[in-house]
Amino acid sequence: MSQALNVHIAEGTPFEYQTDVLVLGVFEDGELDGPAKELDTRLKGVLGAAIGRHEFSGKWLEVWSTYTAGAAAHRVLVLGLGKKEQFGLAELRQAAGQSSQWAISQHAKSLAWVTPAIVGNADQVAEVMAEGLLLGAWAFTPYTQEPHVDSLTEASLLGLPAEAKGGIERGRIIATAQNLVRDLGQRPSNKLYPELLAEEARRQGQDHGFEVEVFDEGKLKELGMEALLGVGSGSIYPPRMVIMRYQGGGNRTLALVGKGITFDSGGISLKPGLGMEEMKYDMLGSGAVLGAMIALADMKVPLNVVGIMAIAQNMPSGSAYKPGDVVKAFNGKTIEVTNTDAEGRVALSDAVSYAAHLGVNWIVETSTLTGAAITVLGHEATAMVATDDGLASLVLQASEAAGERVWRLPIYPEYKKLYKSDVADMKNAPGREAGTITAGMIIAEFVGNVPFAHLDIAGSAWTPAGPLNRTKNGPTGVMVRTFVELAERLTR
Ligand code: BES
Ligand code: ZN
Ligand code: MN
Repeated sequence: MSQALNVHIAEGTPFEYQTDVLVLGVFEDGELDGPAKELDTRLKGVLGAAIGRHEFSGKWLEVWSTYTAGAAAHRVLVLGLGKKEQFGLAELRQAAGQSSQWAISQHAKSLAWVTPAIVGNADQVAEVMAEGLLLGAWAFTPYTQEPHVDSLTEASLLGLPAEAKGGIERGRIIATAQNLVRDLGQRPSNKLYPELLAEEARRQGQDHGFEVEVFDEGKLKELGMEALLGVGSGSIYPPRMVIMRYQGGGNRTLALVGKGITFDSGGISLKPGLGMEEMKYDMLGSGAVLGAMIALADMKVPLNVVGIMAIAQNMPSGSAYKPGDVVKAFNGKTIEVTNTDAEGRVALSDAVSYAAHLGVNWIVETSTLTGAAITVLGHEATAMVATDDGLASLVLQASEAAGERVWRLPIYPEYKKLYKSDVADMKNAPGREAGTITAGMIIAEFVGNVPFAHLDIAGSAWTPAGPLNRTKNGPTGVMVRTFVELAERLTR
């Protein structure tokens, strides 16, 4: 985790404020007005001239910078905000992220935003700006001899009322939790195997005030969790199930369940070698669940939430589970393993049936489950498969508010035949058709009557280099924000 960035509301006139980088947003193809016009005047027309020369036009996330030659700020960053009609809170979050990334690339120690006047109340503006700035400042500390230190320590928001500091605090809590998930994702599987991930959950529970229970392989056996045990049986690192409980109050409970495969080699159905290192990210579903628990506890959201992580390492070996094996999950249903690489649904069958057994009111599960989700939606959205329209619509609303895209896929009864087995209640790996949907439907076989939504983050849990991501192929921490928004909606 990089050095802490302090985001705060500051008073002062932008052009008299002492900072390394003064940040100002400009909409596409608009007239220079307000602070942008004043900036142009103070800088003797260089911004207007740059626009005239087509060096800058305000296009989405376009960057233009100049030195001020002696003004209070050392230099100015003018950021393109794109089309005014398309600009909202989600875009402001991303623009803030772009600004901290850029400031870090320039070795700046401080930045100050001339906060744009946009729709949304000051609290929400403060929140998304704090989130964006902190997410943009994230970088994994690499395992190099040379210590890596980020320079950026101060981010001031000008033009916001002091009362909006609650929004900053909310943004700080959420982004810090999300960045922790990204740190966990980036850890390779020799430095984050099941016991260590469970240990991390324990520590976070102690620090943030939620209860953590860890099932080791003995306990898993006692509970009849053959499915999770099967997935983990090929590895020298035994599987774990982690149960986290946050008692926010009220008489209803949300279960958040996450896939925690600390490395997915495919097992005996081994994956091709190229790019296999990315499968250290296969625990990001359980990472999102842990991150959400932290944020919900810190924010004291008035809802009971139980977080469940199904953790194992999927490896080929003499003790590994094999194609043809039949495993019995916690709820008694059996699964024929036709492909050991479809391990996520197998591991999760025990986790969601345990959630149902706890008598929760809703089960929302997230996992890097299918390559097919990337085929359908690319890296731009999370795929949802849900059994309950009411819950699905709340998830969609939450994801919209969080700025994390979710797209719902249908459940048609005809798909059921695709995972029918001759030797067990179902098989784990149907063919390619409707691959993301059948995966979700298989997990839904284990929730009983509890309203259920499955969120496939195979495409969204990590991305190629992007605006909120300074490392190539970095983990995003997706679903932490959506889960917080969802929990809040479930209290209403
Ligand atoms: N963890 C993978 C899915 C995945 C692949 C996520 C690539 C992100 C990027 C999962 O365990 C898996 O291997 N799924 C198989 C299922 C198939 C064998 C039915 C897949 O998607 O190919
Ligand atoms: Zn996997
Ligand atoms: Mn797999």
